[in-house]
Amino acid sequence: MAITAPFQRPPKDLRPQTEDVTATKGNDFEDYFLKRELLMGIFEAGFERPSPIQEESIPIALSGRDILARAKNGTGKTAAYVIPALERINTKKDKIQAVLLVPTRELALQTSQVAKTLGKHLSVEIMVSTGGTSLRDDIMRLDQPVQMLVGTPGRILDLAGKGIADLSQCTAFVMDEADKLLSPEFTPVVEQLLSHLPKERQVMLFSATFPLIVKDFKDKHMVKPYEVNLMDELTLRGVTQYYAFVEERQKVHCLNTLFSKLQVNQSIIFCNSTNRVELLAKKITELGYSCFYSHAKMLQAHRNRVFHDFRQGATRNLVCSDLLTRGIDIQAVNVVINFDFPKNAETYLHRIGRSGRFGHMGLAINLITYEDRFNLYRIEQELGTEVQPIPATIDKRLYVAPSLIEEAEQREREAAASDAPVPKGPQAMQQGLPSIPPTQAAMHAVPITQNDNFTKSVQHRRGRRGGNREKGGQGGEGRQMA
Ligand SMILES: Nc1ncnc2c1ncn2[C@@H]1O[C@H](COP(=O)(O)OP(=O)(O)OP(=O)(O)O)[C@@H](O)[C@H]1O
Ligand SMILES: [Mg+2]
Repeated sequence: MAITAPFQRPPKDLRPQTEDVTATKGNDFEDYFLKRELLMGIFEAGFERPSPIQEESIPIALSGRDILARAKNGTGKTAAYVIPALERINTKKDKIQAVLLVPTRELALQTSQVAKTLGKHLSVEIMVSTGGTSLRDDIMRLDQPVQMLVGTPGRILDLAGKGIADLSQCTAFVMDEADKLLSPEFTPVVEQLLSHLPKERQVMLFSATFPLIVKDFKDKHMVKPYEVNLMDELTLRGVTQYYAFVEERQKVHCLNTLFSKLQVNQSIIFCNSTNRVELLAKKITELGYSCFYSHAKMLQAHRNRVFHDFRQGATRNLVCSDLLTRGIDIQAVNVVINFDFPKNAETYLHRIGRSGRFGHMGLAINLITYEDRFNLYRIEQELGTEVQPIPATIDKRLYVAPSLIEEAEQREREAAASDAPVPKGPQAMQQGLPSIPPTQAAMHAVPITQNDNFTKSVQHRRGRRGGNREKGGQGGEGRQMA
């Protein structure tokens, strides 16, 4: 079936791609006999061909069978369930027919946006509903027809439990980042939510990581699921991983050196606690680089603003906690930095998967302290990957699109040839995107609630504990960032 109606294809993405997305069977979206309007949405989104996980999942999901699918980060899992879910919705029926569940509010916003983009020409009513927003607004929205509901477990259960969201005819239930949704904090909520759905329903689980905990859920709630595992190897081919062995107090200095040497298009920098996120964001802003930050203890309106603005390229760097580790898809991110090294292999994999989206090239740099060394070794073993020590210079071709390398070189040539003063300072070092005035960058980086007596407080705590060893836990807040 050929599409003849005029539609707007976005400009072709000419960046090189790895086999993680190119090793397909050669299917076309037209092969799936989708509604014409849905095909238009897919092509307008710039998708030419289904990715390997889409080839595996779409035809099976269209048949109504349960699916348990595992595929690498950034290889198109979202569309692998959104496309069949949209296709199977009866637009004449004003009932919620599909629930797409995700673990974070930002991911819910992003996923609902994907559904709206792909379903642009279908008249499917899509609603996003998450905690941190007004329940009243959701109640009013549910007064109008809703056919696809995207959201986080707590809020959706709240709405279903109060009888406001009627899930009695919801025949599709998708859990993205399923292993996270099946962690102890979420499982009881998910199970209660399922009890509001009809017995005859399709359950689909997607993630890049499926630890054993998923088995219980599968046995209890899924019927002969079609299992897909496209993870012979675990890490992305396009993402080069390095580590720098540093002392805690050298980390900020090390980051500064990285910023000055790397061609960062956009970067995400992960810390292990909300407190450290804020402190690091402040340090980075003081160094003169543009930076926003986000973590779970911020007001939702601020989180949304940061997420939105960072996506738009309003700032080059984003410091965050594991809130944004899973699912977040920002194609311009070419560098991920683990300022604090994560504790487990799943977190590591999802974090570094924020770069190298859809088979593109990316760089992951890990700052490793003496205490992290066993963790690094263990994670390397678990993922079957080797993280190399960082070389003195990193070949830009490993993580920068050829067109951007050319652009940067061109700018340098022009600057050398002209009499105009060559831009100096941190902003000029981070090439590729327009410079962000520090005042704009400060908008989100400055409202830091803690006082700035960081070093003092560290010394105070050290004094109290009589040593500089922090006790385990996620935080490590007390450690010094020089
Ligand atoms: N068939 C396709 N053709 C071109 N681009 C695609 C296609 N499918 C998905 N993409 C793009 O690939 C990117 C990654 O997709 P997506 O976020 O669904 O990955 P994912 O597998 O869910 O990753 P993660 O495990 O990190 O959540 C998105 O920007 C999306 O628009
Ligand atoms: Mg995803």
